Amino acid sequence: MQSVSALKNLFDDFVESQKFRDEPKGLFEPMNYILELGGKRLRPVIALMSYNIFSDEVEKALPMAFSLELFHNFTLAHDDIMDYADLRRGKPTMHIRYSINTGILSGDAMMMYAFHYLNLSSEDDQVQRKLNSLFTKTAIEVCVGQQMDMDFETLDQVELEKYLQMIKYKTAVLLAGCFQTGAILGKATDTDAEALYAFGINLGLAFQIQDDLLDLYSDERFGKIRGGDILQSKKTYLYLTALQQADQATRDKLLVLYKTKTLTDHQKVEQVESIFNQLNVRELAEKAVTEYTDASFIQLDSLSVERKRLEIIRSLAEELIQRKY
Ligand code: IPE
Ligand code: IPE
Ligand code: MG
Ligand code: MG
Ligand code: MG
Repeated sequence: MQSVSALKNLFDDFVESQKFRDEPKGLFEPMNYILELGGKRLRPVIALMSYNIFSDEVEKALPMAFSLELFHNFTLAHDDIMDYADLRRGKPTMHIRYSINTGILSGDAMMMYAFHYLNLSSEDDQVQRKLNSLFTKTAIEVCVGQQMDMDFETLDQVELEKYLQMIKYKTAVLLAGCFQTGAILGKATDTDAEALYAFGINLGLAFQIQDDLLDLYSDERFGKIRGGDILQSKKTYLYLTALQQADQATRDKLLVLYKTKTLTDHQKVEQVESIFNQLNVRELAEKAVTEYTDASFIQLDSLSVERKRLEIIRSLAEELIQRKY
């Protein structure tokens, strides 16, 4: 079994070897730009790790892993346009560095390259077919989640159930899909591949709630504008928990504040944060992250593989809860 850092290094070398060098530069250079900004490489590492439970020849899984990171980076390029976000991984987002049109088209090309690399995953037609159908289903679900996230911007409040459905689609299905993709390519049984998927869903919910937390409570290592979710009136776990905890007067104040256009960005973020703090929202969100992570471990225990082979996945999940960026 390879360590997380060994898998990440292997993956980074592969990305470097696949650098996009074609013309026109205006299409391909921005793809290199966003990929070279790095990021945690969580999705490819997860897929390689999951593959490595069942097979030792990790090099063979690199095109599949690259396909998942390309897809993720495509979603980020478009998400940053949709969220009016200027900063990503500590640097200007693709559409700010280049243009909105670049964000759209280089984003599209990354998505198509994701399919290209996915199609290079396996010589076994049956395995390849399974990978393609999982990938397509996942990609459509991510769009569903993004649309829900957009629709929620204009609502005052959404039920927690609806929020959980939205983050399941926009975030958790891709993480879960990475676990399952690795398992399918490694020729795991369907039962094991599905258990890894279920594990990934709960871990993905924890991951997105943590992302909501870090959007406000983090330092510059997070690499995004602090309070961006508040500025976009996002229905995050923090905001929904605040509404749930607040008395009538505080709730009314928060509802008005969240929509206001008369404050500066800084004032708005500070005032919302102060209400969140009064209501212990941070602690409650941290508790939810721990609960979803614990729930994910139950699925991990149902796998029919040696415990030792699962240790690396368990420790990655534990690290994710502690993450600061
Ligand atoms: C950001 O994902 C988008 C979400 C689903 C929250 P990551 O936090 O994995 O971003 P990078 O790839 O490490 O930059
Ligand atoms: C992540 O949503 C979902 C996708 C990118 C598909 P966010 O909008 O919360 O992601 P960040 O915080 O911009 O990375
Ligand atoms: Mg978004
Ligand atoms: Mg965003
Ligand atoms: Mg976010």
